[in-house]
Amino acid sequence: MRGTVLKDPLSMLRAGTVVIGLLVAGAVFGRPTDAADAATAPQGEPVAEDREVILITGSTGGLGREVALELAGTGTHIVVHGRNQERGEEVVRQIEEAGVGSARFYAADLASLAEVRAFADAILRDYDRLDVLVNNAGIWLDQETRQLSPDGHELHFHVNYLSHYMLTRLLLPLIERSTPARIVNVSSVAQRPLEFDDLMLERDYSDSRGYAQSKLAQILFAFDLAEELAGTGIGVFALHPATMMDTDMVLSRGAEPRASVREGMESVVRAVRAPDLQSGQYFNGTAAAEANEQAYDEEARARLRRVSEDLTGVPR
Ligand SMILES: NC(=O)c1ccc[n+]([C@@H]2O[C@H](COP(=O)([O-])OP(=O)(O)OC[C@H]3O[C@@H](n4cnc5c(N)ncnc54)[C@H](OP(=O)(O)O)[C@@H]3O)[C@@H](O)[C@H]2O)c1
Repeated sequence: MRGTVLKDPLSMLRAGTVVIGLLVAGAVFGRPTDAADAATAPQGEPVAEDREVILITGSTGGLGREVALELAGTGTHIVVHGRNQERGEEVVRQIEEAGVGSARFYAADLASLAEVRAFADAILRDYDRLDVLVNNAGIWLDQETRQLSPDGHELHFHVNYLSHYMLTRLLLPLIERSTPARIVNVSSVAQRPLEFDDLMLERDYSDSRGYAQSKLAQILFAFDLAEELAGTGIGVFALHPATMMDTDMVLSRGAEPRASVREGMESVVRAVRAPDLQSGQYFNGTAAAEANEQAYDEEARARLRRVSEDLTGVPR
């Protein structure tokens, strides 16, 4: 039996998101004293002692929400994440009303490295274990003008890949203390090789190219991490959930859905739950599949690792 999930349950109130907001504001606007104060402020509700903890990025809607509701139904504690507080709190409410699992919402914008750091700090502060990390949050912009994050990086690359690289690296010590554990990167069949001399897509930008490059970057990272963590009890996987699911990402483009979000959920839940999966695999839905060949190129993976270390300041 493991120790308590939350470090200081008796002092916890339902104020988690406000505190994260303060913490993030402190990080973003460079007010370390405020951030430090916020870090000791009371947090959400206590959860049962021996609950598994699963963090799903982008679980305020779409696929992440569906995965959160499904996994909460097995008695898990879900860390719900996204930017939209109202939708995040609604997912928490649904989980708590179902009476099986438990949940708390944390707001953090993955377009900001400072917010990723504050989010990771909050999780490291509030939890003694993290059994599963699902890197799911994603954007597929519907505009032909290149968008940059506040940190100056191409927005798909930043939100879909770079912030997840940083979050995973920062949370790894906690995941290592929680083995057996899993990390699942939600990628896509829409994957396209990275061009290392134009990672920020200053030449020939298109939203599809931005999306596809970021999705392959997630797979390179998963394979790299699987190799690094071999024998530690942490399995690392990447997958394409389903094609053109009926989520905001697809519907907001006016596109015709070709799959239900439930189908995609089953693929993610399988990667989280199925016993005896060999780490370092890529799945198309629920079937083992080959990713783009760049994912098997060790030099490309090493280059991406170096770039990611430089851009985030978080080393391997
Ligand atoms: N839909 C498909 O057919 C399809 C196919 C293949 C792969 N995928 C992948 O599946 C994953 C989920 O996609 P989906 O279809 O469920 O999309 P979605 O309905 O648009 O949901 C995206 C989620 O990501 C969060 N998010 C977006 N930008 C964020 C940011 N800057 N910071 C923090 N959170 C952010 C959103 O929450 P907030 O709005 O609250 O921030 C939301 O919870 C993505 O990685 C996507 O690439 C989807």
